[in-house]
Amino acid sequence: MKIIAVLNSRIEKALLQAGAPESSDALVSYSKSAEFGDYQANGVMAAAKRMNLKPRDLAVKVLEQMDLSDLAEKVEIAGPGFINIFIKTEWLEQQLELCKGHARNLLQTEPESQRIIVDYSGPNLAKEMHVGHLRSTIIGDAMARLLELSGHEVIRQNHVGDWGTQFGMLITLLADEHKSDSDFELADLEQFYRQAKSRFDQDPDFAERARKNVVALQQGDAHCLSLWQRFINQSMQHCFAIYQRLGVSLNENHTRAESAYNEDLPKILVVLTEQNLLEQSEGAQCVFLPGFETKEGTPLPIIVQKSDGAFLYATTDLAAIRYRCDKLQANRVLYFVDVRQSLHFKQIFALAYKAKFAPITCSLEHMPFGTMLGEDKKPFKTRSGDLVKLEDLLDEAEQRAYQLVSQKQPDLVDHEKKRIARQVGIGAVKYADLSKNRTSDYVFNWDSMLSFEGNTAPYLQYAYARIQSIFRKLEDEKGSLSVLTKLQLKELAEKQLALKLLQFNDIVLSVASEGYPHYLCKYLYELTQSYMGFYEQCPVLKAENSEIQQSRLYLCALTASVLRLGLDVLGIETPDSM
Ligand code: ARG
Repeated sequence: MKIIAVLNSRIEKALLQAGAPESSDALVSYSKSAEFGDYQANGVMAAAKRMNLKPRDLAVKVLEQMDLSDLAEKVEIAGPGFINIFIKTEWLEQQLELCKGHARNLLQTEPESQRIIVDYSGPNLAKEMHVGHLRSTIIGDAMARLLELSGHEVIRQNHVGDWGTQFGMLITLLADEHKSDSDFELADLEQFYRQAKSRFDQDPDFAERARKNVVALQQGDAHCLSLWQRFINQSMQHCFAIYQRLGVSLNENHTRAESAYNEDLPKILVVLTEQNLLEQSEGAQCVFLPGFETKEGTPLPIIVQKSDGAFLYATTDLAAIRYRCDKLQANRVLYFVDVRQSLHFKQIFALAYKAKFAPITCSLEHMPFGTMLGEDKKPFKTRSGDLVKLEDLLDEAEQRAYQLVSQKQPDLVDHEKKRIARQVGIGAVKYADLSKNRTSDYVFNWDSMLSFEGNTAPYLQYAYARIQSIFRKLEDEKGSLSVLTKLQLKELAEKQLALKLLQFNDIVLSVASEGYPHYLCKYLYELTQSYMGFYEQCPVLKAENSEIQQSRLYLCALTASVLRLGLDVLGIETPDSM
């Protein structure tokens, strides 16, 4: 049930009947506290201003026109002209009974399913994945899952960096060191990169051959291509190992690397030339678009081809947009990429629309995120100043979680401890990222992300496991257990939990449209708090009678189902016991 949308449309209709202008918004939101009802509409004030009326007078008129009697037990005017809506308990009971205890049935998918491209992860294959790739990978994956859950068709695109000058030195080293062994293993990509770089910096002969190899590679030389392919394959295997550990849904089918667009790049140039958009500037082919200039007023170019003929990151992205719009027929393309690339995306989106690589009906959206910082508020690094390898970070997460699990459940067999430690440790790292507003930088802190209190994965996972233990206990007592779908919301805490459960759909829809998974995290946290309040005040195992017990068990089961589905869509596992 889309409660907010229903309330908005009913109140907007009443506003119109009360004489307000067509475009007046009802601005319905959740009330801050129970005394102001469950929902409140804040749009009357703005409408009254436009009509030159006293807000309260308009609010009275709106109330006369409005009928919410099916779902509200009371509607009040408060303060300067807020409308407070108190939801009817019977209606709430009915709505929740309809979903038969399953979170999925609370969701009402969008009638118009869109085809949405989600561009995320996109590591540079010259090096091993490091913490700089974590945010894009985790947030992008959560969004891809969530959009699918809300009924859209999602196409994942892993725009990996597999082309460019660095590969010249890497394949030169590969040719020198591993001539014969065709199936050698690049155990440590990082070390290999460092070795190639130092050879390149110190050995002029090596550097010369590396440069020649770049050109040969770009001209399609078979030997260079096969060395390059060998390197790329190995590097991709490292990525897939990380994705698998992280529970990220990217696989081979989603890889569409920069090199996949090589043949399209000259065509981009042709189209831009035909449209008279190209200008020579310092030997390079550039596009200058109005509105893009430095603070001093110097026009900012989009460079599509350098003077030596090489194409750039921007050219590849233009080709990718064309592919996504023409071939994949996308309605929306979402880019989960570092905020430092904002200007790049503003420029290429503007150019893509102008050159008609994308129709105006396709929405191109950069979903930026900030940097992951260490305790010192500087970008997260190891003690020696290197970027932290993802593999090492995930090892540490599991080790720390293992300590916690061992403290909580010392008697558990070791492989169980390890399994739960993996679910908790990886979950904590992911949730810490997802629960922050992605647009700001965030400080990575082991203790707070692994805490069993506050808005953390372990807190939510633990709450889920505790609900499961209620059902296990009852089953032990009774042999078998069936949860009926008859609800009676008598206590305030029951009603508050019910209201929270019913908000699930609205939250999922808002994340789908705005791309902020932290809304869902905040919701799951609040849901858990409502559940804890309910559990303290309303005995379940010792309920007064079996009807009340059944009703409360139903709330427990539905809460667990929402927690599980909510965490699952964020890519976080829920152990049955902790
Ligand atoms: N490889 C790029 C980087 O590491 C990210 C790719 C993002 N996607 C894109 N279509 N530009 O910064």
